[in-house]
Amino acid sequence: MAREISPGSPVEDLATPAVLIDVAVLDRNIAAMGAAARAAGVRLRPHAKTHKLPEVGRRQLAAGASGLTLAKTSEAEVFADAGFDDLFLAYPVVGLGKPERLLALAGRVRIAVGVDSLDGARALAAPFAAAGRAVDVLLKIDTGSRRVGVRPEDAPALAVALAEVPGLAFRGLFTHAGHTYGAETAEAVRVAGEGEGAALARTAAQIRARGVDVAEVSVGSTPSARHAMRVEGVTECRPGNYVYHDATQVSLGTCGLEDCAMTVVATVVSVPERGRAVVDAGSKTLSTDPLRPHPGGHGFVLGRKSRLSRLSEEHGVIDVVEGESFRVGERVRILPNHACVVSNLHDEVIAVKDGRVAEVWRVAARGMVQ
Ligand SMILES: Cc1ncc(COP(=O)(O)O)c(C=O)c1O
Repeated sequence: MAREISPGSPVEDLATPAVLIDVAVLDRNIAAMGAAARAAGVRLRPHAKTHKLPEVGRRQLAAGASGLTLAKTSEAEVFADAGFDDLFLAYPVVGLGKPERLLALAGRVRIAVGVDSLDGARALAAPFAAAGRAVDVLLKIDTGSRRVGVRPEDAPALAVALAEVPGLAFRGLFTHAGHTYGAETAEAVRVAGEGEGAALARTAAQIRARGVDVAEVSVGSTPSARHAMRVEGVTECRPGNYVYHDATQVSLGTCGLEDCAMTVVATVVSVPERGRAVVDAGSKTLSTDPLRPHPGGHGFVLGRKSRLSRLSEEHGVIDVVEGESFRVGERVRILPNHACVVSNLHDEVIAVKDGRVAEVWRVAARGMVQ
């Protein structure tokens, strides 16, 4: 059985591996993005994929966020149950039973859904139309990430068609500039962010010219947020990762190490030879998501130059650089490559204040795949 974790106990007493959230850094990140959105004059609707925690979502709303963004229907159900009443599913919700579940959700919270096809939108709208209701939809625009979403030039015709589907209320456009994670320089991030905002604002104007109202123009990824939100015509921003940051954001130059709220505490379980140490945090703890924009191991070992070079499920292998050493039983702090996937791997995270356990947060929306 896992050891009981008592509030007030020092981090040094926690069994490992464990995921720690530094509450002071978390609150500072939340406040900073809230202030940036206010200064830009846009609403902030953070993506809760990063934390999957009602406790953090409440902190974001308290700091001025207008609502939350999620991806999956089951995540929306968890957050609605936790009392959140304004949710956007920034994902093409397509599939058996999903529209009906969204109709049920729409009976108790304000919900909007992303679409990128007429077929998907019609399927989504059917139960709403049958119930004499309409679901708010935002059309996903691909501004460079080449994942889901229609190209800007294809959006006006689709928006006109969507506006005529019974059971739908066309509310606007959204995009996610995932391609900023491949940007090599701060300048490239700025150009991508401004391009993201400009493409969306331009597309909104073209749709309005066809007589369809576009109330929401929603942008956002953590690297691009501060640039995209300042573009004229943008109304909303949806960064997610900024609450915790991670090794990828540090590598991209989005933030410094001191802005990273999530770390993993691990124990060195083996030092089989000079140059190699092994910790008890492997892919089950850290995931195998690569460092971006360039591959560079599986997480930073804080305070050391040595990096985690290899993971298997239960083992994290550190390549020990010249001049550094590790000893069996030593505890290390790891900054993960990608915080969002780490949240999804753990039942609970430990909120830490001044080096002591403040609270244990159950990751209520982890593992919600449907
Ligand atoms: C649609 C959408 N919006 C917003 C975000 C938040 O982006 P980030 O985690 O870079 O802040 C994501 C992340 O994947 C996303 O897919």
